[in-house]
Amino acid sequence: MSQAGSLPCKKLLIIGATGLIGSRITQEIVRNKSKFDRIAIFTSPGTYEAKASEVDKLKDEGVDIIVGDVTNSEDVKKAYQDIDTVVSAVGRNVIEHQVELVRLANETPSIHRFFPSEYGTDIEYGPASANEKPHQKKLKVRAALQAADKLDYTYVVTGPYADGNPGLYFGANKAVKEAGTFDVKNKEAVLIGEGNFRISFTTMKDVGKLVVLALTHAEASRNKALRVNSFTTTDSEILKEFEKQTGGQQWGVSYTSLDTLKKLEQEAWDAGKPYATVFTLRRIWAEGGTLYEIRDNHFIDGDDVVETLADAVAEAIRVQNSI
Ligand SMILES: NC(=O)c1ccc[n+]([C@@H]2O[C@H](COP(=O)([O-])OP(=O)(O)OC[C@H]3O[C@@H](n4cnc5c(N)ncnc54)[C@H](OP(=O)(O)O)[C@@H]3O)[C@@H](O)[C@H]2O)c1
Repeated sequence: MSQAGSLPCKKLLIIGATGLIGSRITQEIVRNKSKFDRIAIFTSPGTYEAKASEVDKLKDEGVDIIVGDVTNSEDVKKAYQDIDTVVSAVGRNVIEHQVELVRLANETPSIHRFFPSEYGTDIEYGPASANEKPHQKKLKVRAALQAADKLDYTYVVTGPYADGNPGLYFGANKAVKEAGTFDVKNKEAVLIGEGNFRISFTTMKDVGKLVVLALTHAEASRNKALRVNSFTTTDSEILKEFEKQTGGQQWGVSYTSLDTLKKLEQEAWDAGKPYATVFTLRRIWAEGGTLYEIRDNHFIDGDDVVETLADAVAEAIRVQNSI
C-alpha cells in the first residue's frame, strides 16, 4: 500500500481481457475510452490467434495490443511501460501468479494502482473466510498487494454473477445440478435450502460498469475492498421471475438442503473433483457469505446504474436459449 495521495487511473493495462469477465470489463472500459489516456491489453500469443476478430475489434477502437507470456518477467516489464493502473482479470488457474505481477508492478515507477482478479466472493467476509479452500490464492495476492509499498489496490467484490452462461448462478448447471440450477430449456430448477437464503448478485455487464466507476473514482476506490452488487435476492424470487418470463407455468423444482450441500462438497473435495469449488462457493453464498446489508456502490456513484432481477433473468433466458 503506498503512502502517497490518490493518483488518477488513466493509463490502463488489462490482463485477461478476453476472458469471461475480462471481456465485459474491457468492453465497458472501451465504451468509456474518452475518460482514459491509454488502454492496453496484455494477451498470450495463443489468444491473439484464437480470438483474432475480438482482438482486431479492440485494435480498431484504439486499444494497444501487447502480446506476450504473462509468466515471462521481461514481457511483463515491457507491457508495464507507460501504464499507471493494472486491471487483472486472469482466470482461476493463474490467480497465484499475480503475486509476481504485483511484485513487478511495484518495481515499475509509472504504476500506482493494481486491481487484482477478484470480481466474486468476498474472501475476507468473516473469520471463517481465511480457511475456505477456494480463497487461498486470492488471499495471497491481497497479502502481496498490502505489502507492496508503491502500489494502491482496489478489490472489486461482486458476489456471484447473475448470468445464464453454463455454470453461472442463473444458468443451467448440468454438471452438478444438486449445487443449484435454473434450466430454461427444461423448465427445471434446483434451489438451495428452502429457497430463502439471501444472496447479493452482480450481472457481468454491471461488473464492467462498476470497474469503470472504480477507475474513474480513484480516491473513493483507493485501498478498499469495494463490495458492490446489482441486487440482493433469493432462489425462490429468481425462480418466480424465470417462471413469469417463460410463459407463467410452474417449473419442476427440487431442493438441496444445506446439510446435503455440505456433504456433497466434502465428497467432491475428498475425491479430488474439479467441481468441488462449485459446491464450496454455493455453500458460502447460501450461508450469507456474500450478503451485503450495506453495499458500497454509493462510494463510486454506482447505485443507479445497475441492473434489476428482471433484467438479469431476461438476459439469462436469452443466453440459455442461444446455446
Ligand atoms: N463471481 C462469479 O460468479 C465468478 C465466476 C467466474 C469467475 N469469477 C472470477 O473472475 C475472475 C476471472 O475469471 P474468468 O472465469 O473470467 O477467467 P477465464 O475466462 O478463465 O480466463 C481469463 C484470462 O486469463 C488468462 N489465462 C488463463 N489461463 C492462463 C494461463 N494458463 N496462462 C496465462 N494466462 C491465462 C487468459 O488471458 P489471455 O489468453 O488473454 O492471455 C484468459 O483470457 C477470477 O478471479 C474468477 O474467480 C467469478
